[in-house]
Amino acid sequence: MKVKKAVIPAAGLGTRMLPATKTVPKEMLPMVDKPVIQYIIEEAVAAGIEDILIVTNRAKSAMDDYFDYYPELETRLNQAGKDRELYEVRKAADLANIFYVRQKETKGLGHAIWRAKRFVGDEPFAVLLGDDIMRADKPVTAQLVEAAEKYSASVVGVQKVSTEAISKYSSVKIAPLEQRIFSVLDMNEKPTPEQMFSNYAILGRYVLTPEIFNILENLNPGYGGEIQLTDGLQKLCRRSTMVAVDFEGRRYDTGNLKGFLEATIDFALEHPQTGDWLRQFIQEKAKFI
Ligand code: UTP
Repeated sequence: MKVKKAVIPAAGLGTRMLPATKTVPKEMLPMVDKPVIQYIIEEAVAAGIEDILIVTNRAKSAMDDYFDYYPELETRLNQAGKDRELYEVRKAADLANIFYVRQKETKGLGHAIWRAKRFVGDEPFAVLLGDDIMRADKPVTAQLVEAAEKYSASVVGVQKVSTEAISKYSSVKIAPLEQRIFSVLDMNEKPTPEQMFSNYAILGRYVLTPEIFNILENLNPGYGGEIQLTDGLQKLCRRSTMVAVDFEGRRYDTGNLKGFLEATIDFALEHPQTGDWLRQFIQEKAKFI
């Protein structure tokens, strides 16, 4: 089993980041000097993915423009000798083979993934949520792909979260297989502490087999009246092998204000153009707050 395709669902309405996301897709918000979506594409590419489908909607065409060439701008940068900027602008457009499909109605994450059926065909594929950035020595998608290939199975990326936080995620019922890898026996979406199976929550990365499409096609709306990916995954793990990888790395949910700011500060502290300056700025600020 080889994973060569990825799907990035990015058709959500981004209501937690309003009003900024009324006309700018949350995936296009700048994370220091690159839009959020670029970090996600770069992670997929670093995991050996060649073809990437972004699920968008009518308000998100800025994404396809971003990954296109821009001859007028490139000519101007070339004439001005702005080689670094020219390189960066071109690099974004040449990262991968990027395809787009629209989710015409915002019917939930499961429905958005289902829109990838034609693109995916008969192959396993990675899923990377469009607003979750991962920082890891080994790309998180690569960690999942490795497990998918080893076990010939679907994979969910998990990490432990607090009992108070689990109600924001899906909790998995697991049995150990090896260091950081588990077999998934069951799962539930946004459980209360009484309902949760474990503190392991699914966090924004998956490798799925095409079996998921038949399941999603026949799924009734679940939590919030939406077609929930977790409901589909629950059925999938009950009928086929599914593995959970307790991935190494830090996840940033850039789809909410605090997560976005945390990521911005951490990334800016590491960035060669802003790191030293920001460290000094924060130290100065800290004296007065
Ligand atoms: P989120 O719930 O994090 O995103 O969905 P959202 O719906 O944009 O956010 P809020 O709650 O309104 O602020 C998880 C992922 O699923 C995608 C989102 O784009 C995000 O990557 N999604 C969600 C879709 O593609 N389509 C949908 O109908 C719903």
